[in-house]
Amino acid sequence: MVYRVSAVWLSFLLSPLALPALARGVGPRDPVPAGYHAEPYYPTPHGGWLDSWRDAYAKAEALVSQMTLAEKTNITSGVGIYMGKGQYWDFAPAETTTDWVHRPCVGNTGSADRLGFPQLCLQDSALGVSSADNVTAFPAGITTGATWDKALMYARGVAMGKEFRGKGANVHLGPSVGPLGRKPLGGRNWEGFGADPVLQGKAAALHIKGVQEQGVISTIKHYIGNEQEMFRMYNPFQPGYSANIDDRTLHELYLWPFAEAIHAGVGAVMTAYNAVNGSACSQHSHLINGILKDELGFQGLVMSDWLSHISGVDSALAGLDMNMPGDTNIPLFGFSLWQYELTRSVLNGSVPMDRLNDMATRVVAAWYKMGQDKNHPRPNFSSNTRDKNGLLYPAAVFSPIGQVNWFVNVQDDHYLVARQVAQDAITLLKNDGNLLPLSNASKTSVFGTDAQVNPSGPNACLNRACNKGTLGMGWGSGVADYPYFDDPISAIKRRVPDVKFHNTDTFPSNIGTPSSDEVAIVFISSDAGENSFTVENNHGDRDSDKLAAWHGGDKLIQKAAEKYSNVVVVVHTVGPLILESWIDHPSVKAVLFAHLPGQEAGESLTNVLFGDVSPSGHLPYSITKSATDYPDSIANLKTFTLGQVQDTYSEGLYIDYRSLHKQSIKPRFAFGHGLSYTTFTFSNPTIRAVTPLSLVPPPRAPKGPTPSYSTAIPAASEAYYPPNFPTIWRYLYSWLRPGEADAAAAVGAAGTKKYPYPAGYSTAQRAGPAAGGGEGGNPALWDVAYEVAVTVTNSGAAHAGKASVQAYLQYPTGMPYDVPVVQLRDFEKTRELGPGESQEVVLRLTRKDVSVWDVEAQHWVAPGAAAAGAGAGRGADSNPNNFEFKL
Ligand code: NOJ
Repeated sequence: MVYRVSAVWLSFLLSPLALPALARGVGPRDPVPAGYHAEPYYPTPHGGWLDSWRDAYAKAEALVSQMTLAEKTNITSGVGIYMGKGQYWDFAPAETTTDWVHRPCVGNTGSADRLGFPQLCLQDSALGVSSADNVTAFPAGITTGATWDKALMYARGVAMGKEFRGKGANVHLGPSVGPLGRKPLGGRNWEGFGADPVLQGKAAALHIKGVQEQGVISTIKHYIGNEQEMFRMYNPFQPGYSANIDDRTLHELYLWPFAEAIHAGVGAVMTAYNAVNGSACSQHSHLINGILKDELGFQGLVMSDWLSHISGVDSALAGLDMNMPGDTNIPLFGFSLWQYELTRSVLNGSVPMDRLNDMATRVVAAWYKMGQDKNHPRPNFSSNTRDKNGLLYPAAVFSPIGQVNWFVNVQDDHYLVARQVAQDAITLLKNDGNLLPLSNASKTSVFGTDAQVNPSGPNACLNRACNKGTLGMGWGSGVADYPYFDDPISAIKRRVPDVKFHNTDTFPSNIGTPSSDEVAIVFISSDAGENSFTVENNHGDRDSDKLAAWHGGDKLIQKAAEKYSNVVVVVHTVGPLILESWIDHPSVKAVLFAHLPGQEAGESLTNVLFGDVSPSGHLPYSITKSATDYPDSIANLKTFTLGQVQDTYSEGLYIDYRSLHKQSIKPRFAFGHGLSYTTFTFSNPTIRAVTPLSLVPPPRAPKGPTPSYSTAIPAASEAYYPPNFPTIWRYLYSWLRPGEADAAAAVGAAGTKKYPYPAGYSTAQRAGPAAGGGEGGNPALWDVAYEVAVTVTNSGAAHAGKASVQAYLQYPTGMPYDVPVVQLRDFEKTRELGPGESQEVVLRLTRKDVSVWDVEAQHWVAPGAAAAGAGAGRGADSNPNNFEFKL
């Protein structure tokens, strides 16, 4: 065996990830503003009480009941950061196998090899398999949202699921719906689908369906309130910020997409780094036990975000099921708050066996639910190196080396889906005098470094943490490596070979006088990402460049508009920008938002620019005239304060267009806006009441049975290291030395350990709230209340095009609740309609869509039903309900 000193370990020691690390555990909480509560909720509801998971739980129960204590704790935790990123010897608890097993992922759990339960490979990201070769770099979530196309949202999920499976990942760490996009400057909004819960929720549900149909567990993240990057993490000097969210706002905005994901059967949830109402998300009993697992009936596993695990017993009791990547939040020396510590906590009686059984069962049930017991491929890549051979334990000081990459190509024809998404997301905001589409014969000059791929290569910057060349994605963990990059300038040159390209962001001084028909295409960008990297002084959030184009892009447009009378602006951006310094310039005739297109940036754009297709993207957020059009709590990022940064959602439901409507502020371009080369008419709108509504949903069914195990503390011997077990320094194991295990068991047997259980702690399982009862909540919430139909006709003469139909709910005046003026509730996109062609489009509004969350009742109440005089109970009265709809 050849060994090498691991430079990975050394570089990690020096990396920013090591900084948040000195553990900050459970202590007195910092005070939060009055009115924001994190009520205790115990115990963790057992998983398995729903029919949709019945088979998976039956199989899981059969397997978990054969596991030893140390096997159960082993599968609920990672084996250490950078520890599984190679091929390494597979140490079985009861015997040593001679198999080489390869687990190269960003997160790797322990296993129960004796019973055939493998280590699980958890891999980023929400836009493709990260840190891997031969994969597709799909357009980002925000781009997918901008298509407003459900079929594409699903197709992208299917393609991505196939790639995760093909690479041997068990768990896909996406999609992201938190952040929702409350703050336009927030760093990771682009990983999700847009600043509206319904757009996020429907896109996420379709993505999850696509991924999980390929046998890969999808993870909805980050739960919850991760709306800003700076100050998100707990560190020795400061807790992560507290997102202070009231109960109604939580339910109607931020929780909504998570509920949709759970309704779609998502297998995993990742908690957020920050706190909510003063309590860290990774150990928040109200959020995990109460809302996620009881009210929303979540049956899968809840994992921590990386290195956000700050308590052992408390997080287990609060409902966390998996600690990722296994270490304490100081990951340097191979310590964990779970693994061997969880084993000890069960033996000494602090963590009830009942909770550990449920944790292990949830992990195994998710694995069975996706059919991963049948021929799921083993990982065949390394996130650590592109070399064929590399470190088998990258984070060990001395690591053996061996084969770590098999270069399996999983791309298939997924570039087609990627290109279609990139193309159908392109959003035309302005097209004066129908400058677009261009003809191939147009005399064309192109300006801006964003038009050409980064000259050092598309993957030159680690985790894309730079903004050089065309911006195809933001930065951080939410990225994938480009297999190639089809950049706009190459695609334009394929159409207009004698295009003049000025690869600069400063307008050249030597431009002559262009002819009046010459077209200038100006490329600008705005980037953002994860707080683990700072790019051009932006700390994840856009705290430095704010809502201006990077690299002086706004100036570049102004200068081009002074010279050329036909300027087309192409914007690659993570989110909204303020366009006021040039948008009304008469020479700026056309503006296209191409969002973050991924690898297919070129042809997707030229197909639109040159009129092969009409643009059909629509904005997934509003573009305001000024950043201050939003209230302070939205417009500004939180800056440093001593103690815990308090981010209070004082605007309540009023973010993005909800806020603008409330304040009667006209945006520059509205949420949902997007032009086409053709025009559409909408005719014959009809609304049909489908399910008669009662004031609240009908009573839920009682919970079904859940697995039953012995709750006795197991024998200490179940925790002993196997004899002659060779350990690797820094690798996290779940076993204890016999002396340690015996000592812990003696404490447990004597009952002398008095763990300081949190306020409100109880072990008696609850019946569950009335708002619960199924995956995502009370099943009747998804009853279709109304069907809305409309005929869409392409009324233009020259171009085919796709139309976006969006249904917004408007309550009648006089509702007993304060409600936003309008709220998106459903959307559909037509097929490509030729001139004169029509299509009938049907949209559906559910009971939940027409309900508000009543904080007193702790239930979804349909005020329309109340106004119609309907009593409680399904079918107590028949409609019509008093709602108005806008098309
Ligand atoms: C931290 C990020 O917040 C999360 O989205 C990601 O999945 C994990 N790191 C793993 O890389």
